[in-house]
Amino acid sequence: MIISGSNPVHVQQAVFALCAGELLGLPTETVYGLAADAGNETAVAKIFKAKGRPSNHPLIVHVASVAEVNQFASDVPDFAQKLMAQFWPGPLTLILPRRAEMAAAAAGGQNSVGLRCPSHPVAVEVLKACAAKGVWGVAAPSANLFGRVSPTSAAHVQSEFGDALLILDGGECEVGIESSIVDCTRGVPVLLRPGQISRAQIEQACGMKLVSQETLNSETPRASGTLESHYAPTAKVRLMSTADWQKALVVLGPHTQNVALWSLEKPSYSLMGAGLYWRAMPSNATQAAHDLFSVLRDFDSRGVRTIWIETPPDTLEWEGVCDRLKRAAA
Ligand code: TXA
Ligand code: MG
Repeated sequence: MIISGSNPVHVQQAVFALCAGELLGLPTETVYGLAADAGNETAVAKIFKAKGRPSNHPLIVHVASVAEVNQFASDVPDFAQKLMAQFWPGPLTLILPRRAEMAAAAAGGQNSVGLRCPSHPVAVEVLKACAAKGVWGVAAPSANLFGRVSPTSAAHVQSEFGDALLILDGGECEVGIESSIVDCTRGVPVLLRPGQISRAQIEQACGMKLVSQETLNSETPRASGTLESHYAPTAKVRLMSTADWQKALVVLGPHTQNVALWSLEKPSYSLMGAGLYWRAMPSNATQAAHDLFSVLRDFDSRGVRTIWIETPPDTLEWEGVCDRLKRAAA
């Protein structure tokens, strides 16, 4: 059932559900989360079950403010403090050493915990109200079935989990792709997942170079969002250069069937028959991130068999979008 994030009575209802150990579809500025009380093992188990996600894949714990961090983490390094000061509330998750007794199930058994303080006003309201009732953190992975496209609207969440789930409607997500994740447990900041907050911004805020996961010769923590194949629609996704999709359309001509195209350049009108469904890719990376998952869902809902996506520019500002596209195409 979808309830309104702008109605205080509905927000209360959502807080009540969370505190009672129920699941909630929670809006954030990045994507919608499938939320549960991070301190309630039974509630957290419901998340893994509903998503079909392996229970050793850790969840992000969402907090109302920096003040709640010490409930879950110990030995927060200096550079992590700087990142929080600069980017919270906002689309940045920090992996920190976990207090042994806290949120063990949510952390998937890791001795670290992923913490994020979202900026979406409805999320903030819910988290503050939860904290006031002693629920210090809310575990929430993206509210989609394991491996599928992340949801950026309440309707997307409902299409994943049906009407039985309580979903708080906070409108369309502004950012559109999941938070950047920085591992702060290895002495140096390590980028686990690129997002809207760029490498350059992260490095500048903490005054340290970001290390890439691959260059560290240690065991990498399990992170669903970093699996090679993820964010996958039902249709097959292919990343193509402008020249490649243009050539493919010429070859197929009037035989083009059940193809969707997301590209900067518009296909020439003569080629756009009933068999081709086109949407414009914004030339601005922030806008493209905002549109990405809803475009993939839209294509899928039209029953296309193949989705062609023009490979975005190979620049840092496109890193988050390119990362999701590569996994959708894998
Ligand atoms: O923007 C977001 O981060 C959204 C919204 C709902 O906040 N959440 C999200 O959650 O994307 P999820 O579970 O789909 O992705 C979280 C990623 C996963 O890849 C998970 O494995 C990783 O964060 N993660 C969480 N805790 C971790 C930990 N202790 N160590 C390593 N990776 C961790
Ligand atoms: Mg996810």
